[in-house]
Amino acid sequence: MEHLINQNVRNITISGIRQFFHLVQQFDDIISLTIGQPDFPTPDHVKESAKKGIDEDFTTYTHNAGFFELREAACQFVHKKYQLEYDPHDEVIVTIGASQAIDITLRTILEPGVEVLLPGPVYPGYEPIIRLCGGQPVHIDTTNNGFKLTASLIERHLTNKTRCIILPYPSNPTGVSLTEDELKEIANLIRGKNIFILSDEIYSELTYSQKHTSIGQFLREQTIVINGLSKSHSMTGWRIGFLFAPKTLAKHILKVHQYNVSCASSISQKAAYEALTAGENDAEKMAVEYKKRLHYVYDRLHHLGIQVIKPDGAFYLFPSIHQFQQSSFDFALELAREARVAVVPGSAFSPYGEGFIRLSYAYSFEQLEEALNRLETYISKKRKLI
Ligand SMILES: Cc1ncc(COP(=O)(O)O)c(C=O)c1O
Repeated sequence: MEHLINQNVRNITISGIRQFFHLVQQFDDIISLTIGQPDFPTPDHVKESAKKGIDEDFTTYTHNAGFFELREAACQFVHKKYQLEYDPHDEVIVTIGASQAIDITLRTILEPGVEVLLPGPVYPGYEPIIRLCGGQPVHIDTTNNGFKLTASLIERHLTNKTRCIILPYPSNPTGVSLTEDELKEIANLIRGKNIFILSDEIYSELTYSQKHTSIGQFLREQTIVINGLSKSHSMTGWRIGFLFAPKTLAKHILKVHQYNVSCASSISQKAAYEALTAGENDAEKMAVEYKKRLHYVYDRLHHLGIQVIKPDGAFYLFPSIHQFQQSSFDFALELAREARVAVVPGSAFSPYGEGFIRLSYAYSFEQLEEALNRLETYISKKRKLI
């Protein structure tokens, strides 16, 4: 019966990150730097509020867009932090992680034949959805542009089929973000055109080198801002994301959301309310820790003679392995087998990720130190062989 499966579904594959994660599980004593998930527990007060929610029978469906106080808290949060103006009545949707926000946005705005511009390398969560909608992903090579998708690069790839531009910043896998000026330039280029911006800001609270700015501030009418609690509050398993869009757009996205999931989990919504109100600055403590780790890993890579761009945020480094003249998959597999360190091959992040590996530093200092010691020994042996 497999021949009856939708052709678009047959054409997509499981994410390369997960595939590689499963592949390296077979090696014992391996240190894995593969997964993009905070290593801190969810803050205690957030966990307590969820328990209270259960005890108080907050266990039924909520409004499709999320319970009102939470929507209000979400709007206040992005207003206070990023000067965004959204109406809690009809311009915000509480979603099942940022993933579902991406899905319902793309399914609302895409049609067969349209093109979606996105940076390369890029998080692998967008391309399959674009393809399921019959759209054409157009990756733009950012490797010679400091991994930044800037206005001039975008301009060269615009066609009359371009429907959407995906901007993830800070970026997974590179950690690079966009500055206020760079975002303004993109906004000026796109303003008035029949093009949407999907602005994935899931790492906004984990920005180290500059204050995070949202393009929603400059191009509100054409932008869908996506954020969530997975990374900022170490809540990946609670599955809470947020989508902000002008009401003319949000009302259509809400229909897709309603028929897709009805609403996000009521208990997780309770926890989210606590996170955004009493815990609005919870990410700060984690960000301080990530920043220390970033400097440590960056310095060690630098010392090893490995080229790497210093990230602005998130918890990834994306070093170049061009000097070893191997595909990123072969390099990562050999590293796992011989040195017992797991990283993600850059090719998991579009063809433009080839020649790089992604290292996550959402791991303890001890794990990072041991992983880098192993990497150092492995690389010095490898250099002698080249
Ligand atoms: C750039 C980016 N967007 C979205 C997501 C999905 O986030 P969530 O777990 O909230 O669905 C991730 C997860 O790694 C990500 O890196």
